[in-house]
Amino acid sequence: MDISGPELTYFLKSCQQAAQAGGEILLKWLGKTNVSEKNSGDLVTEADYESQKTIRDFLENKFPEHSFLGEEEDGSLKSLETGGFCWVVDPLDGTTNFVHQLRSFAVSVALTYRGEVIVGTVLDPVLNECYSATRGQGADLNGETIQTSDCDDIQNSLLVCSFSTHVTPDDPQVKRFLQVMHRCGSIRRLGSAALNLCYVGCGRLDGYWATSVSIWDIAAGMLILEEAGGIITHIDNTPLDLHDPQFLASANPTLHQKMLPLMNVDDS
Ligand code: IPD
Ligand code: CA
Ligand code: CA
Repeated sequence: MDISGPELTYFLKSCQQAAQAGGEILLKWLGKTNVSEKNSGDLVTEADYESQKTIRDFLENKFPEHSFLGEEEDGSLKSLETGGFCWVVDPLDGTTNFVHQLRSFAVSVALTYRGEVIVGTVLDPVLNECYSATRGQGADLNGETIQTSDCDDIQNSLLVCSFSTHVTPDDPQVKRFLQVMHRCGSIRRLGSAALNLCYVGCGRLDGYWATSVSIWDIAAGMLILEEAGGIITHIDNTPLDLHDPQFLASANPTLHQKMLPLMNVDDS
């Protein structure tokens, strides 16, 4: 990577400041916001929009030459492939939790360079937990280095998964869920993809899979997970495709190898 250490440090600091600015907006709106639907079951609030505007204004002011891709504007994934820098932002990950005042949601801010995430921050503004990572330099939670768990046994694992908004009983997602549930310690569905990845990163959870998320949900979290020692691939064990992130993330390679066969379902 032809980016200097001081530059990376400055990018990460900016990432954290942007996430903090978004987090303040979320706390301001918590319990006071109007809710609308982007699509059936896909909620959005003033908090999503204002958080994104605040983050975008902050980053564009600092880095006018960088591209920006945020969930709440129809940004193009092409911005990732321009060869330059692109900020990838989810201004509120966990909108359904936020709307219900379930205090588990996050701001996710990542910077990509030539299509690869180089720094990322996920902030839980309620717990004031700020997860960060720089490629090749490890990951931390509020400045303390984090590491994934050494759980290498599915039977003892605590896992988390995401489902798409509308799932039919014969959906492959349901088959996959049952297949894993039958074997693992237990499964959670917590409502924020970004936090799920950070929780695997810091060892609270052992694995996470999802087949219906978007790049802004996971850009920062996947770097945090990997820099904390975790592994993330496509559910068929090919490299993760950020444009179509159907993935399995595990605390360590041994658990990953054991989990991969459980991702296979007959989707006929
Ligand atoms: C959602 C959350 C959820 C995941 C969905 C995402 P949003 O993001 O990350 O956990 O299951 O696929 O869309 O809409 O709250 O930003
Ligand atoms: Ca999201
Ligand atoms: Ca969102």
